Formats: sequence, C-alpha cells, structure tokens
Amino acid sequence: MAFATILLKIERGLATITLNRPQRLNALNRQMFRELDEAFDEVAADGAARVLVITGAGDRAFAAGADIREFVDMSPVAALDFSRDGHRVFRKLETMPKPTIAAVNGFALGGGCELMMACDIAYAADTAKVGQPEVSLGIIPGAGGTQRLSRLVGKQKAKELVMTGDMIPADEALRIGLVCKVVPAAELMAEVQKLCEKILSKGDVALRLIKEAIEAGSHVDLASGLEIEAKSWGLCFTTEDHVEGVKAFLEKRPPSFKGR
Ligand code: COA
Repeated sequence: MAFATILLKIERGLATITLNRPQRLNALNRQMFRELDEAFDEVAADGAARVLVITGAGDRAFAAGADIREFVDMSPVAALDFSRDGHRVFRKLETMPKPTIAAVNGFALGGGCELMMACDIAYAADTAKVGQPEVSLGIIPGAGGTQRLSRLVGKQKAKELVMTGDMIPADEALRIGLVCKVVPAAELMAEVQKLCEKILSKGDVALRLIKEAIEAGSHVDLASGLEIEAKSWGLCFTTEDHVEGVKAFLEKRPPSFKGR
C-alpha cells in the first residue's frame, strides 16, 4: 500500500514506519492518523514483519504533535471524535501482537509524545525534546497523554509536565523513565537496529505473550496479573519454540526459533 504522509518498509523481519512530513516537523494530520491506522493493520497482519520501528523523517522531529492548522475550524464534536479516533489508533499500536520501538530522532511533542508512549520501547537521540505542550494552546492532551504519561512517570511528574507544557531534553526523559535509552543522534538508528536484532533472535510467540502479560497485567491487581502470567507461561509449553529453546540450551548451542 502506498501512503502520502508516511513511509512503510518491511525488510528482513523489520517493519519501519517513517512519519514523513518533515516540512511540518512530521505533525500528525488527519490523513496521517488514517494512514497509520491502515499501516498498523498491515504490519500486524504481515508475517514478514516481526518487529515495528516508528521514526520521523529528517533530523529535527519524531513528530511535533497533532497538526495545529487543523484545529482552527474544529467543532467541539469533531474534536471529541478526533480524540476518540486517536485513542483507537494508538491503542491498536499498543496492543499490536508484535514488539514496537519508537526511534525518537527529534521533537516528540503532544501527539508525537503520545505516539511514542504507545510503543513498547523508546530510544531517543540526545538532541530529542519531549513534552505535552497542549496547555499553551488552551487545550489538554487528547491522544492518551493525560493517561499514559502518569502511568509511565507517576502522577506528580505527569501533572508538572502537562500543566507547564515544558519540553524536556532527552536525558531528563531518560531519568524519569519516559524513554529507556539515549544515544548520540548519529548513532540512533544503529542502536535501534541492534535492539531489533536481539529481539528478532527470540521467538514470536514468547514475545507476543510477554507483551500481552505486561500490558494486561499493568491494568489489574497483582493477583490477577500473576494469573495472567501463569496462563501465558503454561501456553508457552505448547510451542515448538519452547522445545527448541530448552534443547538448544542443553546442547550448548544458540536456539533457532520458528515462531510456532
Ligand atoms: N502543527 C502544525 N504545524 C507545525 C507543528 C504542529 N504541531 N509543529 C511545527 N509545525 C510547523 C511550523 O508551523 C512551521 O511551519 P512553517 O515553516 O510553514 O511556518 C514548521 O513546522 C517548522 O516549525 P517551526 O515552529 O518554524 O520550528 P522551530 O524550530 O521554530 O520550533 C517547535 C519547533 C517544535 C518548538 C515548534 O514548531 C512548536 O512549538 N510546535 C508546536 C508543538 C505543539 O504545540 N504540539 C502539540 C500540538 S497539539
């Protein structure tokens, strides 16, 4: 499928989506949300895509937020629908049964920060700046920012960031747990590639169950979470990958997982 606002490439197990409106700092307009929605379906369904990386075109931005130009004539009802639709698309990403990585190559603001937070893992360039600046437009985050940010960094820090609209540098985002690695900008994609290669060497079923257990477990009490883990652990013992993983260990060789 050809897209106008994003690029989608699938190569050697790795799908890469590049947000591609660099002249607007990759701001997410409605068309980009629609195209992301379709691209997420495509990646989820394509067996050749085992890990998804999302990044921004150019060297300035991952995404500088929703496209503010589209806010000018937006009615309250259209705004409600826009927010709900953004939630649906980012939730699709968050629940995609494959690992997803944000390669944050510059500004990740507003919807860009919300997109980053819907990914499983975020690595950032040392030049990146992250934040939820909506309050300066007289509005609040609408694509999950008031919910995912506090779950990631705690309520107090989330309130500070969202109430001030401050853009924080990558090292501060790392310190508060909003991204999990910061590297020199020129090395970002190589570092993300290394991470992906490690993940690609594992079995797809285990990766999927890890994601499901951590995601589902983060919204329930500990006892319920442990039960989710126990069921998933049991399920692993039905797979060929489990047989191969244990056998490879005992034979002192690297495993060769088939994702079955
Ligand atoms: N929506 C629409 N256009 C945007 C945008 C957004 N969220 N963010 C940047 N752009 C556009 C700018 O309008 C500008 O377009 P122009 O060249 O036609 O004027 C272009 O991208 C480059 O941005 P510019 O503001 O000139 O770059 P800068 O280096 O001076 O500032 C930012 C960078 C990120 C600090 C600034 O663009 C900004 O504050 N953006 C909005 C962030 C925001 O509020 N996001 C949340 C939206 S809900």
